[in-house]
Amino acid sequence: MPDTDYYIEMMRVSHPLRVPVLRSAISTLQLPSGSRGLDAGCGIGLPALLLAEAVGPTGHITGLDLCPEFLDYAKEIVEKAGLSEQISFQQGHVGKLPFPNDTFDWVLSVDFVGYAPLEPLPLVKELARVVKPGGSVAILAWSSEKLLPGYPLLEARLNATSSGIAPFTKGKSPELHLLRALGWFREAGLEESVARSFAGDAYAPLSDDLRSALIALFQMRWPGVESELTHKDWAVYQRLCLPESPDFILDHPDYYAFFTYSMFHGKVPQ
Ligand SMILES: C[S@@+](CC[C@H](N)C(=O)[O-])C[C@H]1O[C@@H](n2cnc3c(N)ncnc32)[C@H](O)[C@@H]1O
Repeated sequence: MPDTDYYIEMMRVSHPLRVPVLRSAISTLQLPSGSRGLDAGCGIGLPALLLAEAVGPTGHITGLDLCPEFLDYAKEIVEKAGLSEQISFQQGHVGKLPFPNDTFDWVLSVDFVGYAPLEPLPLVKELARVVKPGGSVAILAWSSEKLLPGYPLLEARLNATSSGIAPFTKGKSPELHLLRALGWFREAGLEESVARSFAGDAYAPLSDDLRSALIALFQMRWPGVESELTHKDWAVYQRLCLPESPDFILDHPDYYAFFTYSMFHGKVPQ
């Protein structure tokens, strides 16, 4: 499967797990009904649907992404949802947005700024540039999880691998870690910055959608970890985390997992 098809599939299948969490986070932003916003790094447009719900039928969302294949897929999703009037898409680089200053009432980036290999501060500054004075700049991103109930040591070891700490890398400056985003907001001149985390849960019996979402998440969370684990841990990982295993952890009758999304938002000075 080409990379883009694989990512589209992962984004699509894992989305149901995070919908309640994204909705809660978006609702705390109190986006004014009828407002116009930018979804930066919009992927296949799934967060844009929730943003459109938040601003109502008189509002408008522009989804921007670098990848034309994701945007084509996003347009199909939005058309099927009957929201083509309310949500439009544009290709572009978040570091050099194709919009004049003060275009939007607000901007949100989900699972992108702070996650990309790109330096976050120039991106936050660029997002702030296109938002009107008094408007808000927000970044929301996956920040932690407990997915292997009963196996804290294995999960801690998986999380200590390079995939486990990605997109952060060993030796990277601490200031570039997502949880230091308040510093990026301060340096970008944003005011009244707020940080808040939101938790999501999943427990047995899992619906088919959540089961598929968690399988996709296992694949995305710890790829290529074998070389960084002991043989024993790798064997336990395979026993617990591969769907074909008779001991696949998602089939445990007491399965429980939770994860967090963290949101940072601040205001463009008046
Ligand atoms: C992890 S995905 C998140 C997608 C979407 N926000 C979501 O939550 O479903 C990150 C997205 O950022 C996009 N992206 C990466 N670099 C970008 C850039 N420089 N400018 C715009 N989009 C970019 C990718 O194409 C991808 O769609």
